[in-house]
Amino acid sequence: MVKAVVAGASGGIGQPLSLLLKLSPYVDELALYDVVASPGVAADLSHISTKAKVTGYLPADDGLKAALTGADVVVIPAGIPRKPGMTRDDLFNINAGIVRDLITGIALYSPSAFILIISNPVNSTVPIAAEVLKKHGVFDPKKLFGVTTLDVVRAETFTASVAGKPDPSVFKIPVVGGHSGDTIVPLLSLSEPKVEIADPDRASLVNRIQFGGDEVVQAKEGKGSATLSMAHAGFRFVESILKAVAGETGIVENTFVYLSGVSGGDDVKSITGLDFFSVPVELGPSGAVKVTNILPQVSEYEKGLLEVAYTGLAANIKKGVDFIVGAP
Ligand code: NAD
Ligand code: LMR
Repeated sequence: MVKAVVAGASGGIGQPLSLLLKLSPYVDELALYDVVASPGVAADLSHISTKAKVTGYLPADDGLKAALTGADVVVIPAGIPRKPGMTRDDLFNINAGIVRDLITGIALYSPSAFILIISNPVNSTVPIAAEVLKKHGVFDPKKLFGVTTLDVVRAETFTASVAGKPDPSVFKIPVVGGHSGDTIVPLLSLSEPKVEIADPDRASLVNRIQFGGDEVVQAKEGKGSATLSMAHAGFRFVESILKAVAGETGIVENTFVYLSGVSGGDDVKSITGLDFFSVPVELGPSGAVKVTNILPQVSEYEKGLLEVAYTGLAANIKKGVDFIVGAP
């Protein structure tokens, strides 16, 4: 029996993500938590004739505890989205506290759940989560994930378009680093099937993948950021976790993890000098089983992109850690 929880379930991502989870054969129980409207979203979804039992909770009456108790996987899209002109880091002041408080709930009520963080800035909210879990003595790095799947989805879509291929889903393209602007590093040289894209097209493709979020923010003209593509990407990642839990093997997703806690992660850490990094991670019943260190295989051009990403990520990670442990 699998219980999934969505924290931030009434939002632009939360609602379509909850719908996809309600449709999934891997979910038996679906608990929707938000500070507004979650009982209504739950009532609506509960009429769909699939097996998952849906319940909705607000903060009143210990709603967070009720939602989280017994959870196997908790997905967090709670928090404010960007408006045009903002960076993801501009969301830190509000979203850092939201994530801290939700993770505190997880530490208390569902400490062995898989935790998938969507709330931005992911480069900082995941380190915040790790520090909160450490404080409570329940940090399992194999079960904490920053969701960077949308970058992979964009890489597949935009690369197929440049390469003139009709079906983007045939592509497997690693996207490493973090989840904001030039911390996002698509490794087109490792694409399967292979693509030959020369500059200036390569440079503009990389830029489009790195700044795809801005494209949506601008198109929505102040009404938020990516929600539907994110719900798809978030669901893809949750389902990969649930398939791995169900015993399926060979499942690999790119995700932002605490490197030292996962087998093979120290090899990446020794190159990047960073505690957290998005890399291809093999998933198993206990979570992140193995990090694949693909960094030695990248092209000279991609090495340059990575150097830029390391600098931005170091600052973002430190900001998250300092938020919990206190700045020196
Ligand atoms: P939204 O404003 O539509 O929804 C956010 C929801 O969070 C709202 O329903 C709100 O009530 C709820 N919320 C606020 N505080 C809460 C709390 N303490 N507990 C529970 N719920 C709470 O925003 P959105 O478009 O769904 O985006 C949500 C977050 O996801 C943003 O931070 C956005 O930047 C981020 N995001 C990340 C990615 C990614 O690739 N990781 C992609 C898109 C968006
Ligand atoms: C995205 O990549 O679409 C999200 O991180 C939302 C944003 O702020 O761009």
